[in-house]
Amino acid sequence: MCKDCEKKTFYITTPIYYPSDKLHIGHSYCSTAADTMARFKKLTGYDVFFLTGTDEHGQKIERKAQAAGVTPQEYVDRIVAGIKDLWKLMDVDYDDFIRTTDERHVKGVQHWFRQLYEQGDIYKSEYEGWYCTPCESFWTELQLKDGCCPDCGRPVEKTREESYFFRLSKYQDWLIQYIREHPDFIQPPSRTAEMLNNFLLPGLQDLCVSRTSLKWGIPVDFDPKHTVYVWVDALTNYINALGAGTENDALYRKYWPADIHLVGKEIVRFHTIIWPIMLHALGLPLPKQVFGHGWLVIDGGKMSKSKGNVVDPVKLCERYTSDAVRYFLMREVPFGSDGEFTNEALIKRINSDLANDLGNLVSRSVAMIEKYFDGVVPAPAEQQDLDRALIAQLEALPALVERHMNALQFSVALSEIWKVIGECNRYIDQTTPWILARNEADRPRLGTVLYNLLEASRIVAVLVGPFMPRTPARIFEQTGVTDEALMTWDSVQRFGAAVPGSRVHKGEALFPRIDVQKELELLEKQKQEAAKAAQPEEKPAKRFEQKPEIAFEDFEKLQLVVARVLKCEKVPKADRLLKSTLDVGGEERVVVSGIAGHYKPEEMVGKQVVLLANLAPRKIRGVESRGMLLCAADDEAGVLRLLSVDGDADAGCEIG
Ligand code: MSP
Repeated sequence: MCKDCEKKTFYITTPIYYPSDKLHIGHSYCSTAADTMARFKKLTGYDVFFLTGTDEHGQKIERKAQAAGVTPQEYVDRIVAGIKDLWKLMDVDYDDFIRTTDERHVKGVQHWFRQLYEQGDIYKSEYEGWYCTPCESFWTELQLKDGCCPDCGRPVEKTREESYFFRLSKYQDWLIQYIREHPDFIQPPSRTAEMLNNFLLPGLQDLCVSRTSLKWGIPVDFDPKHTVYVWVDALTNYINALGAGTENDALYRKYWPADIHLVGKEIVRFHTIIWPIMLHALGLPLPKQVFGHGWLVIDGGKMSKSKGNVVDPVKLCERYTSDAVRYFLMREVPFGSDGEFTNEALIKRINSDLANDLGNLVSRSVAMIEKYFDGVVPAPAEQQDLDRALIAQLEALPALVERHMNALQFSVALSEIWKVIGECNRYIDQTTPWILARNEADRPRLGTVLYNLLEASRIVAVLVGPFMPRTPARIFEQTGVTDEALMTWDSVQRFGAAVPGSRVHKGEALFPRIDVQKELELLEKQKQEAAKAAQPEEKPAKRFEQKPEIAFEDFEKLQLVVARVLKCEKVPKADRLLKSTLDVGGEERVVVSGIAGHYKPEEMVGKQVVLLANLAPRKIRGVESRGMLLCAADDEAGVLRLLSVDGDADAGCEIG
């Protein structure tokens, strides 16, 4: 509760986004949902704080900046401006935008890290394990899937360095109990089960929370050769933006704990395990809810720049208006599930829901008042049963919408509104105003029908506002609603607030109909052009990072030999693995490699390859692998090619 205005407070956040040249429609999904919710809560009388921002540190950014030939700070500054422009275009009206490079955030991270260290929850040790740079995640050998990152499937890098660790394991039992006692904490419920079964119940390991090999990040202030792990850095944005831990913590005291952290399903893990444990260890309250929404997918897969299948929200908004795009995002997919993005579906929704259903309701009501009442809103006479049924539905609608919104069921809330819009259009067909208009004696009835339709349009305008912020003003303009008191949540609780005697103004169609065939052809052309244009960007200058020098004797320990592939087959139940039988100069041996995404078994047979022969044997999926085939790999560009020798060399020939 806000002490000054006595309103209930509501604090909602999006994840902070990695600065990327082009945020795609999937990123806009989360921000649109958070903005819609924030607007809805404002409409219903809450004192709302809506936070978003950017997550600017980490290995991924450091490498991208290096490839672009600029400093990481220059790289992120340029991109953040573009992200803010996108939110402006999409009417994502945040109250604060936090950047992890902001001084306030840096100070906050150092403050929390130090507190955890001083109270013994962070300790120094050595990390040995695997790191996935695209996900900025640490993994143990056991967690890897076919030797790759279990989240994104890309290759991981072996890491060994002095690190600080956070005692996650100490808090594991507390968190399990907390989650069980607070079933609303992780939503939807399927994600609770996922977190318990996949991560918590198998047991938590202490988390590596600093790196010495990474420079682009926040230094641990009491040991500056260490950089704070990006997720620990990023998660604290939610309280740093409110000034927690500083003298200036009025916002923190007012808004924390957050009502909702809205996040995509792949990052629920960080928000429901690391984050609550950090907060609990720091003695701070936990957010009330973490909601993990699904992904917008294309052709069944995640959008990705390297696949060239990203959908540009800027182009969509410019072409169809941001309101139409926002409506589509919130209407098409049940929030929580994955949903396919297609141009067809977008255009169909615009034509049927916006142009036909909503557009027709408003334009027909206004046109008939112009035609039959010279544009002056008539006063209603006695309501009949048919009218009362419609009125009852309209009066029940706000509470219904509120119930679904509180459960973040955006699409259900919209479908309830659209059911009533459908009823209104049916009401026009049932009451046939054009027939009533023929007879002077039916004039009071005609006035009642048209008043009801106009009032229905006003109520609908108020209710769609959080989803489509520009549309209400356009409907009010046409329906002659000028008094702000008629645009509020209070004013839609009871039917009948529209004022007879006001003037309507026939305007442009709210959402013009689209010629589907023509539009799809044009969009397909644009998509192909965009995919082509994306090509050069996908090939930045290659990064080369020198590892620490080694002595010649160390190099001599490696035994590299030429080998020839005799047989090759897939490893059962392992998408990425091939099992090759090699001729290594008189000896046959088996090697398992994570190359199935790049080579078919039949292509492998006969190939001359380079084998690291004296690598300690390792059992992979039950197969003993003796050695490693050398490859050139660029995971970002999706490139993986086997090494060979120039010309013919016998199997077994040593390389050195
Ligand atoms: N920086 C982290 C979040 C740190 S929060 C303390 C991050 N950034 S992100 O830019 O990769 O993703 C931001 C959000 O966009 C995530 O919630 C992610 O799920 C969402 N989306 C990215 N692609 C998406 C789709 N295709 N569909 C829906 N949402 C997706 O993760």
